[in-house]
Amino acid sequence: MIQDFLKGLRIICQERDIPIISQQTQDYLEGILYKHKPKICLEIWSAVGYSTIVIANTIKEWGWTVYSCEISYTAYTEWINNIKQSWLTNIVLYPFDVNKVDLMKLVTKEIDFAFIDWQKNQYASYLTKIQNILGSNGFIVLDDVIKYRNKLSLLYWYLQEKQINYKMLKMEPGDGIIVING
Ligand SMILES: C[S@@+](CC[C@H](N)C(=O)[O-])C[C@H]1O[C@@H](n2cnc3c(N)ncnc32)[C@H](O)[C@@H]1O
Repeated sequence: MIQDFLKGLRIICQERDIPIISQQTQDYLEGILYKHKPKICLEIWSAVGYSTIVIANTIKEWGWTVYSCEISYTAYTEWINNIKQSWLTNIVLYPFDVNKVDLMKLVTKEIDFAFIDWQKNQYASYLTKIQNILGSNGFIVLDDVIKYRNKLSLLYWYLQEKQINYKMLKMEPGDGIIVING
């Protein structure tokens, strides 16, 4: 069962210090995905595929796809192995540096949901790119926004400047997420 597979993968990631979403963020993501039922999902940075599997497993119920990308070839090959073990088929992974590609070329159509999880000082620039391909009812989740708040001044400036409607939610102790339009 996929939840057992995810539990095992979470333990392996913890033992190897691979940064993945917290259990609280996982629970929240599953809930918000059920609520909005997005079709085309984009994940900016996947590591070994933990959060990709969470998203894909949730949205498979209504038959849609998650696109993701990972820059590290080692992580990418582990990701391929993990996806095989999950038996999920609604995932497209690119072994790309996301900074060097046109996001629209990755997904080819408007997206309904984006999840961003890595270099905090780039969150604002990804937000700009994602908003250009986000459908009118689309929503975005950004991870780790409390722990790394000192690296996010550009993001907070951007949210205020563009008057973007967002909420910050505490997840695990000391950290949390930002949800835009969710
Ligand atoms: C925090 S991890 C992602 C964890 C994943 N969201 C999860 O919870 O399972 C961030 C990953 O982003 C990758 N990464 C960093 N910069 C990147 C870039 N420019 N393009 C693609 N992937 C990148 C790193 O190699 C790392 O594996």
